[in-house]
Amino acid sequence: MNFENIIVTQLENTALITINRPTKLNALNIKTIEELHTAFKVLEPNQFVKAIIITGSGDKAFVAGADILEFANFNIEEGTELARKGQKLLFDFVQNLSKPVIAAVNGFALGGGLELAMAAHFRVASTNAKMGLPEVSLGVIPGYGGTQRLPQLVGKGKAMEMILTANMISAAEAKDWGLVNYVVEQEELLPLCEKLANRMAKNSSVAIAAAIKAINANYANLVNGFGVEIEQFGLSFGTDDFKEGTTAFLEKRKPEFD
Ligand code: COA
Repeated sequence: MNFENIIVTQLENTALITINRPTKLNALNIKTIEELHTAFKVLEPNQFVKAIIITGSGDKAFVAGADILEFANFNIEEGTELARKGQKLLFDFVQNLSKPVIAAVNGFALGGGLELAMAAHFRVASTNAKMGLPEVSLGVIPGYGGTQRLPQLVGKGKAMEMILTANMISAAEAKDWGLVNYVVEQEELLPLCEKLANRMAKNSSVAIAAAIKAINANYANLVNGFGVEIEQFGLSFGTDDFKEGTTAFLEKRKPEFD
């Protein structure tokens, strides 16, 4: 498979997807989301792929968020569509994939990056990883499922704190909070993910697909929450704070909100 922003490698029983925009800290633009959708779609029926690991290129970032430059001038309709399309093509798609997806969080996982890691079936982090949902510091809210999946993983109180403060947490805190399952040195990250993938590969693929479906069903009653998120995310694009927040980021200064 030939892509511009991602690299897909076949390991023993496993496919490795590497998001490859290192100069932008692997920020998720629409093209990258579309490429990821295609890659997952092609890998899912491949009988030689028993599990998929997703990571970021370089040693600094998993994904530093949605691409702020790309959406900074969007209006309410475009913002709503951004969240709706992204959730459908990538985040819900990954969550509902019939093959296990492990996020190998090798550095910053912020905004859409943490949302992508949370859409994966579970997460392993390297010691340098930092995780957060900083959207409200930009005058917007998480739009790729963050307001729904973070409370599912860490509980409502911690999710509220992370989203409302926009603070990042360390890998060790993420492990304490149940956001990641393991924390290892960076050079051990992919080997551990491969080991876990190979362990899963020994099990019945059909049973694994059924288990994923059954576990996800436990959260299906929250489906309306995703709709509320899309609506509120979209509405952020009509606010002065959103203009100020994204402009300040792109101008490399602190935002001044009223
Ligand atoms: N969207 C677009 N570009 C991004 C990005 C994003 N989410 N995150 C980082 N980049 C770009 C930077 O603009 C910079 O590009 P430039 O070299 O052309 O100026 C490059 O990636 C490197 O980032 P930089 O900010 O210089 O690195 P840093 O080490 O000083 O800081 C972060 C790292 C992750 C703390 C900082 O990049 C950051 O805060 N990113 C945005 C995080 C965010 O708010 N994500 C949620 C988006 S909804």
